[in-house]
Amino acid sequence: MAILFTPPEFMKMKETLVLYRCALRNMEMRMDILLEDFENIQKHNPIEHVKLRVKSYESIAQKLHRQDHPITAESARQNLTDIAGLRCICAYTRDIFTIANVFKNQPDIKLIKERNYIDKPKPSGYRSHHLVFEVPVYLSGEILRLPVEVQIRTQAMDFWASLEHKIRYKYKSGIPIHLAEGLKECAAKISDLDERMYKIQELIDIAY
Ligand code: GTP
Ligand code: MG
Repeated sequence: MAILFTPPEFMKMKETLVLYRCALRNMEMRMDILLEDFENIQKHNPIEHVKLRVKSYESIAQKLHRQDHPITAESARQNLTDIAGLRCICAYTRDIFTIANVFKNQPDIKLIKERNYIDKPKPSGYRSHHLVFEVPVYLSGEILRLPVEVQIRTQAMDFWASLEHKIRYKYKSGIPIHLAEGLKECAAKISDLDERMYKIQELIDIAY
């Protein structure tokens, strides 16, 4: 059954999404400045690429429904912290924490949630570092502070997460055990690969 906003709530959600888009742009600008800094000043760029997305109406309504919350714009603002999301893909695991720390040290945004699924992967094998920041949105008459979820992971972790997401989507009632085990095995290999690649890169850094 499709879970939907009522037409008046849909209109309110539409207005709300404009605000989240503004918050996301604020975070995107911070990321752009960081890219400029790494590329032109530090001469080492740990950021491979950045993806941005605002959650769809359908996903917002479904998540609210799943969590037994009212399907309203007000409820979405109160209960969800991942309406605006930014994903940053890095080359090496160490870069993830470098970037996370840069944002943690910015005094005008506030860290409200942090999940380190790298040191402690999810049972599925999922690895990534998640942070939610409250980002200011300067409107004509007020300052809003809205959450933006930042996911930081390596290319290898991203490769794994995309495939796992596709499989999870395909098998809505649960991933078959042989696939789940295969994925877990791949997650362990990817973790090992990330570490070995980093060690090689470190040797190059020392040599040149
Ligand atoms: P969600 O309701 O999924 O947002 O979970 P949450 O609010 O408890 O946050 P969590 O940190 O667990 O996950 C947030 C997001 O991380 C998800 O929406 C996915 O994008 C991603 N994620 C978390 N776990 C997995 C996983 O096992 N596999 C994949 N592919 N992605 C995951
Ligand atoms: Mg989410």
